[in-house]
Amino acid sequence: KYKMILDLDTGIDDALAIAYALAAPEVDLIGVMGSYGNVLTPVGAQNSLDLLELLGHPEVPVFLGAQHSSTTDHFEVMPVSAQIHGVNGVGEVELEPAQRKTEDQSAVDFLIEAAHKYQHDLLLVPTGPLTNLAAALDQDPEIANLIGHVTLMGGALTVPGNVTPVTEANINQDPVAADKVFRSSLPLTMVGLDVTTRALLTTAETQQWRELGTTAGSKYADIVDYYIDAYNVTSPHLGGCALHDPLAVAVALEPDLVSTIFLNMKVDTQAPFAGRTIGNEAKINDPATHTEVAVNVDQTRFLAEFMDKLTKLFQA
Ligand code: BDR
Ligand code: CA
Repeated sequence: KYKMILDLDTGIDDALAIAYALAAPEVDLIGVMGSYGNVLTPVGAQNSLDLLELLGHPEVPVFLGAQHSSTTDHFEVMPVSAQIHGVNGVGEVELEPAQRKTEDQSAVDFLIEAAHKYQHDLLLVPTGPLTNLAAALDQDPEIANLIGHVTLMGGALTVPGNVTPVTEANINQDPVAADKVFRSSLPLTMVGLDVTTRALLTTAETQQWRELGTTAGSKYADIVDYYIDAYNVTSPHLGGCALHDPLAVAVALEPDLVSTIFLNMKVDTQAPFAGRTIGNEAKINDPATHTEVAVNVDQTRFLAEFMDKLTKLFQA
C-alpha cells in the first residue's frame, strides 16, 4: 500500500486535500507537514490537527515546517490569502480544538526519515510553498532518488498566474526552493493552474454535504462556502471555486485523471519573472524523463470521484 505525506499551508483547499487523502482506501496518510502560505505555519498546523480530529483520524501526526521562505527571515500572510481562506484559514469557521499537539520532530526530518523507510512507496503531495522539500533535498540529496513520486500543486504553464500575471501563489512564495525541486532528479508531476482552475465546486455540492446531517459534513460545507463566495468575488468567470489541492492528491493516486507533457522545467528566480514556472531552455534538446506538467484534466471523472469519496468520509 502506498504511503502519502501531505505538505500543507492549511487553507481551505488544503483542508479538502486532507479529506481526499483520508477517504482514499489505496493509500495510508502517514503524516502532514506544515508550511506557511495561506496562514502562518502554526495556524495551518493547528487547522490540520483540528480537521484530522473532526474527520476521525487523530492518529495522523502533524509536523511543523518552515515559517518563511528560504530567502527571507520573515513571512506575512498576503491580504488576498485572508480574503480567500479567511484570517483563520478555514473560512472563519470555528473548529473544535484538537486534543493533541504537533510532533516534536521537524517536518523536514520526518520527510527524510520516511523517504528512507518507504522509498518508492512514498508519495509526497506538497500543496503549499516548496520550502520544506527544498530544505530536505539540501539536508539529504539522496531522497531525490528514494521518494516514489512528488505530485505538487503549484505553478502555471499554459495559463496566467494568480498572484502576478506569470506566477502562481505556492511557487511565488519561494521561487528559489521551487527551482531546486524542479531541477532535481525527483520524479515529479506539476498540477498547476492549467488544470486546477478547471476543477470546480459550487454550493450545489456543499449543500449535499450539509444535508448529510453530520458535524464533518456541515463544517466542511460552511468552510468551503466561504471559499466559493470569495471565488465569486475574485474570479467570477470561473463559476465556482478551484479545487487546487485535492486535485493534486487525486492525481497522485490516479495519474490518468490528467494528461501531461514531459518537460525539463525551471522556475525563474530573478525579476521581472521571479516565480514563473517554465521550460528550461538550457535543456531544450535533452530528453525530459521525470518531470511532467499536467495540461488537461478529466473534470467530470474527477468531480465524481471527489464527491463520492468526500461524501462517504463525511457520512462516517
Ligand atoms: C494555491 O495557493 C493556495 O492559496 C491554495 O491553497 C493552493 O494551494 C493556489 O494557487
Ligand atoms: Ca495550499
